[in-house]
Amino acid sequence: MAALALVDAAEVMRLPQEGVQRLPQSRADELTLEPGAVVIDGDRIVGFEPDETCRRVPCDGCAVVPGFVDCHTHLPFAGWRADEYALRIAGVGYAEIARRGGGIRASAAALAAADDVQVLGQARPLAFEMLRHGTTTIECKSGYGLSADGELRALRLAGELGRQIEQTSTVTALLAHAVPDGFTASTWMDAVEGMLERVRSQTSATALDIFVESIAFSNDDLLRMGRLAKQYGMFLRAHVEQLSRHGSVPVAIEAGARSVDHLSWMSVGDVPVLAGSDCAAVLLPGAELLGAEQLPPARELADAGAVCVLATDLNPGTSPIVSLPLIAGLAVRRYNWSIKETLLALTLNAAWVLGFSAEIGALEPGRRADVLLLDAPVSHIPYRLGHNPVAAAIVAGRPAWVRPDHAWRFAEADGMSAEVSA
Ligand code: NIG
Ligand code: FE
Repeated sequence: MAALALVDAAEVMRLPQEGVQRLPQSRADELTLEPGAVVIDGDRIVGFEPDETCRRVPCDGCAVVPGFVDCHTHLPFAGWRADEYALRIAGVGYAEIARRGGGIRASAAALAAADDVQVLGQARPLAFEMLRHGTTTIECKSGYGLSADGELRALRLAGELGRQIEQTSTVTALLAHAVPDGFTASTWMDAVEGMLERVRSQTSATALDIFVESIAFSNDDLLRMGRLAKQYGMFLRAHVEQLSRHGSVPVAIEAGARSVDHLSWMSVGDVPVLAGSDCAAVLLPGAELLGAEQLPPARELADAGAVCVLATDLNPGTSPIVSLPLIAGLAVRRYNWSIKETLLALTLNAAWVLGFSAEIGALEPGRRADVLLLDAPVSHIPYRLGHNPVAAAIVAGRPAWVRPDHAWRFAEADGMSAEVSA
C-alpha cells in the first residue's frame, strides 16, 4: 500500500538533532514546531517530504506530535476507591486511610476477589480511553498482589492486558508497594528476593519498583532492590519523596535507578545531584493535585537540565486519571513549564524511562510511527484545560483511533479504517 502522508499541518514537532534518546529539560526549547508533513510507510516514519504517490491526510490547523508515553501507571487494578477520595477531601490523610485498612490493601482485596476476566474487563476500556487521549505506549505495574502468588498473577495479567490492547506496553514489578500482613519490610524483601526467579521465567516484567515511605519501605530496602535489579538485569524504578521527606533521591541514584517518581518532598539541594545523574525525574501532577501534595521542585529540575518526565500515575487511590493532555495542562500551570518542556516530558524522555527511546518518542525517519494529530496548535493543550485535543492516534502506522469529527481527513486515504471499539 502507498505511503501515508499527514500534510499541511500547522505544526510538526521535531527534535533538534537526529538519533537523540533523551534530552535534558533545559534543551526543550530546541524542539521545533514548524508547519509541514510527516510520511509513514508501514509501521515506520520515513520522512517529511510526501511525493505524489502518497495517500494524503489533510492536517490544516492541526499539530502533529509523537504519541504520548505514559511511563507510570498502576494498570491493571480492580474497582475504584471513590469513598477514600471523599474522606481525603474531609481531611483524613492517606496514611490514616491506609492504617484503617483502606489504600493499597483495599485494592489488593478487590484484585484478589476479582477473576481474570473481570480485571481485564476493567483495564481494557481504560487503555482505550487512554488511546483516545493520545497515549500510544503504557507502562503497567503490579503492586496490588501483596503475596508472591498475587504479584505473579498481577504481572501475568499486565502482560495479558498488553496483548489485548492497541498500544505497546511494558510491565513493571512493583514488588515492594505495601508490607503484607505477617511480614516486616525486611522479611517481605526476603520474599521478594525469593520470587524473582519466577518473575523472570513466568512474566514479561522488565523493571522492579519500590515505594519508599514511612508506611512502606526504607532507603535500605531501596538499595537492596537496586542490587536485585542489577542481578536480574532489570531497570529499577522508585516511588520516593511522595508524602514525606526521606532523602531518597541520592540513595536511588546510588542504587542505579532509571527514574525517581513523585518527588513532592524532594529537597532543592538534591536537584543538582539528580540533574547530574543518569536517572530521570518522573513527576505526577495528577496525584499531587488530588492528594493536595506539595509541589516538587519542577522548575528547578528543568532549569538544572534533569531528564524530566510526566505521567498519569493512573491508580484507584491517588490518581484515577487517564488523560495525559490534562496532566500536561497541570504541569504547565503548576510547574511553570513551557509547552515544549511538557511535550518533551510526555514523549522522548518518557520513552527513555521505559528503554524504548531508540524506537519511539519522536517524529524521525526509522522510528515507529506512533503519531498524534491534534485539533489545534500545541499551545491549546494546556490552555483549554480539560479539552481532549486528540483528533487521531496512529499506532505503528495504523490509525487506531480517529475522532468522528475528524474522520473526513482520513476519507481520501483508501483502505484505512479506524477501530472504534474497546
Ligand atoms: O503512586 N505511592 C504509592 N503508590 C501509588 C498509590 C497506590 C494506591 O493508593 O493505590 C502512587 O501514588
Ligand atoms: Fe505510582
